[in-house]
Amino acid sequence: ESETLITDYDFPYEGPFGAFDQMQLQRGLQVYTEVCAACHGLQYVSYRNLHDEGGPGLPEDQVRAYAAQFETFDEDLDDYRPATPADKFPQSALPEAPDLSLMAKSRAGFHGPYGSGLNQLFKGMGGPEYIASLLTGYEEAPACAPEDFPGYYNVAFGAGGYPEQCIDEDGHHMAPGSWIAMPPPLLGDDVVYEDGHPATIEEEAKDVTAFMMWTAEPKMMARKQAGFTGVLFLGLLAVLLYLTNKRIWHRAK
Ligand code: HEM
Repeated sequence: ESETLITDYDFPYEGPFGAFDQMQLQRGLQVYTEVCAACHGLQYVSYRNLHDEGGPGLPEDQVRAYAAQFETFDEDLDDYRPATPADKFPQSALPEAPDLSLMAKSRAGFHGPYGSGLNQLFKGMGGPEYIASLLTGYEEAPACAPEDFPGYYNVAFGAGGYPEQCIDEDGHHMAPGSWIAMPPPLLGDDVVYEDGHPATIEEEAKDVTAFMMWTAEPKMMARKQAGFTGVLFLGLLAVLLYLTNKRIWHRAK
């Protein structure tokens, strides 16, 4: 069993009144486009959704221009053509790199304690926290590992290879994390943000992760709104029922 180091990053969409930060989603789209898209696809996301309110909210002409940079295979034409807003993002360019559309909801950052799931109850599933920690989790390999062990050492990645030289007699891992096939994608200043936001590794990681939370749950804002309205109405109903009950039974008391 490998232990991993996950940071509980704060994101603007957290909590009952949290909302996606449009500028952050646009920065995250930029990081995805300029860095991650070299290997990873987003095959379940349509370009037109970049226009969504409660999402990145790009103006329609920018969405058209964004889509037109990519080629898509058209079955009717039996040929490639420039993509339009109605098309989907490409599949992963590198087959070993998993698609990122649903990644923020298919990983967990928090576990336990002791298999109870209480950490997830209080902190959330932690998919985005896991991804941001993964992107910032590359470190120099521990001294116990052989020089030629394949992959890159990452303290947040638990599912990768692990050298037996780093496992002690009791079977415990001597260093957190494991070895991952993805080379460190972010080094800091990998992009130049148009809004002047600092492009440190951590900020880039949080931005692209927030973008991936949006691709995985594009209707989160609508869901929170509906939940809030529901709670409000149930609260009102509770008050009315309480007063009705008082009134019906007032003579019996
Ligand atoms: C795996 C994110 C850039 C190649 C992954 C995983 C995530 C991720 C979340 C899944 C880890 C898991 O299974 O738990 C990103 C992001 C990037 C990025 C956000 C941009 C900032 C790249 C680039 C490459 C790449 C540029 C290719 C050079 C891979 C490969 C894997 C992987 C091969 C599979 C690793 C393994 O299972 O050992 N990436 N990635 N990624 N990524 Fe990336």
